[in-house]
Amino acid sequence: MAIFVTGGAGYIGSHTVIELIKSGYDVVVADNFSNSKREAVKRVKELAGKDFSLYEIDVCNGKALDKIFTIHDIECVIHFAGLKAVGESVKKPLEYYKNNLNSTIALSNTMIRHGVNKIIFSSSATVYCPDNKMPLTEDSLTGGCTNPYGWTKYMCEQILTDVVNAGSGFTAVMLRYFNPIGAHESGKIGEDPQDIPNNIMPYIAQTAVGRREFLKIFGDDYDTADGTGVRDYLHVVDLAEGHVAAVKYAAQSSGGVDIINLGTGNGVSVLELVTAFEDATGVKIPREVVSRRPGDIAICYAATDKAKNLLGWETKKTLKEACADTWRWQKNNPGGYGL
Ligand code: NAD
Ligand code: UD1
Repeated sequence: MAIFVTGGAGYIGSHTVIELIKSGYDVVVADNFSNSKREAVKRVKELAGKDFSLYEIDVCNGKALDKIFTIHDIECVIHFAGLKAVGESVKKPLEYYKNNLNSTIALSNTMIRHGVNKIIFSSSATVYCPDNKMPLTEDSLTGGCTNPYGWTKYMCEQILTDVVNAGSGFTAVMLRYFNPIGAHESGKIGEDPQDIPNNIMPYIAQTAVGRREFLKIFGDDYDTADGTGVRDYLHVVDLAEGHVAAVKYAAQSSGGVDIINLGTGNGVSVLELVTAFEDATGVKIPREVVSRRPGDIAICYAATDKAKNLLGWETKKTLKEACADTWRWQKNNPGGYGL
């Protein structure tokens, strides 16, 4: 029996594959490398000390999925594959709707055809309405997304919920991630944005290594303690362990929808994050305050009780560890995975 990991060459998928193998699972990975490199999978195999099947396919392609589900005995699917750049989704909405929705539909259809009924879906805190009270619980209001990417996550949650409600016997665990940062402690795998980073941590890391001149702080006039935006940053290895916990949970479930936040429960401001990075690494980050980024909210952090109660999972790693691990990855691989 194996866990089928779509998008397993990507940032979160690669770390998750290592944790799955560490926990004794067999994995099968599919990726089209639209936002990742084969080198990441090579390194995952080295770090895990185990080989596994890797398929270069588009997860929207049902026929290609059928072949994989025929060859392998799949017990559960983790669906990471998707496009995730918020700004790009505004410019290319149809690409985002096509890729993110069609992959989820093709995968669900294939699972039904092959009698596989456990799926863990990569959702995001971005599905919550901007004007909720903090911390965000799984019952906080959703919708009102400010970009097509956010809507794709919202819609995929709805699609999977409807598949469950149609009596498919599916267990769909939607994991709403907050802000994953950090890298594997080996410094061999990490986040490798193909373009100018949209998210703050890779931007800080690329500034530290000299690929960017300075960090632009998007606003210091928010209603927060130091005026900068507050987010819930969790270490990607903790997040990967959250997926292992979700796979174990799904294995025992007799069907249904579970929506679970994965975060630390702590809010950290941009200035606190920059200071933590400087303290952990000894590297100064040049910075400049610029105007707010459209669509940003002041504060966003998770309520974590449900993850503790249902999955027995909570974050273990500190912000300092996340900063040190990010730096080890970036310093050892200034150009990411390379060509
Ligand atoms: P990533 O881009 O590093 O990984 C996604 C992987 O999916 C890439 O390797 C890409 O090549 C692959 N992929 C995309 N479309 C595909 C397709 N049609 N067929 C096959 N492979 C395809 O992103 P990530 O940060 O690892 O995120 C993983 C998932 O988690 C995504 O669905 C993302 O939207 C979601 N998520 C990420 C964050 C974050 O901050 N990183 C936060 C919330 C949710
Ligand atoms: C972004 C996405 C969100 C996604 C989340 C996790 C946007 C508008 N939202 O949210 O959909 O779910 O990432 O992947 O892109 N910041 C700077 N300078 C920078 C970059 C960011 O000051 O160069 C600030 C932001 O204003 C924010 C904080 O850093 O206060 C975190 O930003 P980011 O990493 O982009 O995450 P989110 O805003 O939470």
